[in-house]
Amino acid sequence: ATLRPLLAGNWKMNGTRASLSVVSALRDAVAAGRMRGVDTVVCPPATLVMAAADLCAGSSLMIGGQDCDSQPAGASTGDVSAEMLKDAGAAAVIVGHSERRNLHGESDAVVRAKAEAAARAGLLAIICVGESRAERDGGETLRVIGRQIDESVPPAATARTVALAYEPVWAIGTGLTPEATDIAEVHGFLRRRLQALIGGEGGGVRLLYGGSVKPDNAGEVWGVENVDGLLVGGASLKEEDFLAIAAAR
Ligand code: G3H
Repeated sequence: ATLRPLLAGNWKMNGTRASLSVVSALRDAVAAGRMRGVDTVVCPPATLVMAAADLCAGSSLMIGGQDCDSQPAGASTGDVSAEMLKDAGAAAVIVGHSERRNLHGESDAVVRAKAEAAARAGLLAIICVGESRAERDGGETLRVIGRQIDESVPPAATARTVALAYEPVWAIGTGLTPEATDIAEVHGFLRRRLQALIGGEGGGVRLLYGGSVKPDNAGEVWGVENVDGLLVGGASLKEEDFLAIAAAR
């Protein structure tokens, strides 16, 4: 079965008020039917989530967070909870991005707790997995990703509460991308592993590819079997690029 695709933009630590014009432009593009057939979510930095969501009130363009804490509230200086993102108007949140795993030392167990918090708050959790260059070179790719899936995806996950993003760490922000056959191999593995973990629901979970997706390679990636969406970093910062990636489907 073909799943309804999900196109996600991750602005990372980029964007000020001035960047809200990108959100307005995408909202207008959605209204004009330019994202027809694709669910679209933009994940700006936390400072812009509420303003972006306000701009998208009544639009099907969704706004998401880039991370959330596992607790709903409390003494955790600097953190933002899933419930706060929901309250700000978000519909989704990225959890376990490799930049969180690597720069902030987040373990699979932490990522799972965050995904569970997202579900509790009514947000779609976009859970990220992916191997490093050394792991790929060492032939460890599927073993590493298998462990990340088993330990980061909540056992109660459903197609409504999670999407899974495959982001090879060496492809993020580098301009390098795996061969389509390599993406197909990993995505087929993701599908089987998810089904082993959560049963039939795993067939409906959208599997996103991320890592140096640009307008000129998006068409090829969209065409890979078991690629049900894209998680775009750098090219999500400009509306023309993001729209071109949607149109490449
Ligand atoms: O979350 C997005 C990814 O890390 C991909 O980033 O498109 O800039 O390579 P990129």
